[in-house]
Amino acid sequence: MLNVNALTVTMQRDSAKRILDDIAFDVKDGQILAILGPSGAGKTTLLRCLALLHTQTSGTITVNGAPIDTLAAGKIGIVFQSFNLFPHLTVLDNMLLAPTCHKKDTAEALKEKAHALLTQFGLAAHAGAHPHNLSGGQKQRVAIARALMMDPPVLLFDEPTSALDPELINEVSEIIKALRQPNRVILVVTHEVRLARHVADHILFLDNGVLRDNVSRDVFFDESGNGLSPRARTFLSNLS
Ligand SMILES: Nc1ncnc2c1ncn2[C@@H]1O[C@H](COP(=O)(O)OP(=O)(O)O)[C@@H](O)[C@H]1O
Ligand SMILES: [Mg+2]
Repeated sequence: MLNVNALTVTMQRDSAKRILDDIAFDVKDGQILAILGPSGAGKTTLLRCLALLHTQTSGTITVNGAPIDTLAAGKIGIVFQSFNLFPHLTVLDNMLLAPTCHKKDTAEALKEKAHALLTQFGLAAHAGAHPHNLSGGQKQRVAIARALMMDPPVLLFDEPTSALDPELINEVSEIIKALRQPNRVILVVTHEVRLARHVADHILFLDNGVLRDNVSRDVFFDESGNGLSPRARTFLSNLS
């Protein structure tokens, strides 16, 4: 279980401006959570706090009761919006870098694992390729496979469809859903309502740094709009 409590992030230059304002939520093991909201809502900042890439200003984040910064390095997997593969490394070496650094297993076992993941993602033929020779969808699958090398109990996606052809939304949805595991939480930041609807059990709606809604997918997408904040209702009605 992932728990976020009283998470507040202020701007460095202007501490009165809150990028995230007193955010609190839980994600149970085995769940997929989508974080929806307009551009500038604070979605990426929240994800960066969870990935320890942003020093939170105040509040706590725990995984199974332990502060998130005490988790072994690499245990928080993140798939960035622009994938952030190392351009000078092959696909295989991108995957081996972190687990080798952290001595996760023998070199042979790690290679075997990397090849198994590449096969699973239909990338077996590309182990020796460099990222610039891959399509966007392939790069994303490499980024996911790379994150999985560390068996992360927390897996984060930032706008997984934004750099891809809209026709790939269903494919990305299926890939993310297949990553669900009983001992893993998955958070997907997106402004793409279709993706949230396909993958998530639960939806957070963030606006202007404030968590406006924390509801099940069924409540969020119920046509009545009952149980939603006025801001979320406007967001949804502007899409149709
Ligand atoms: N490093 C930063 N310095 C100053 N302001 C920032 C920084 N990062 C994000 N912001 C501001 O915080 C707000 C939330 O940004 P972000 O988390 O990227 O939103 P989203 O991902 O929902 O579009 C925006 O107003 C943005 O301008
Ligand atoms: Mg963002």
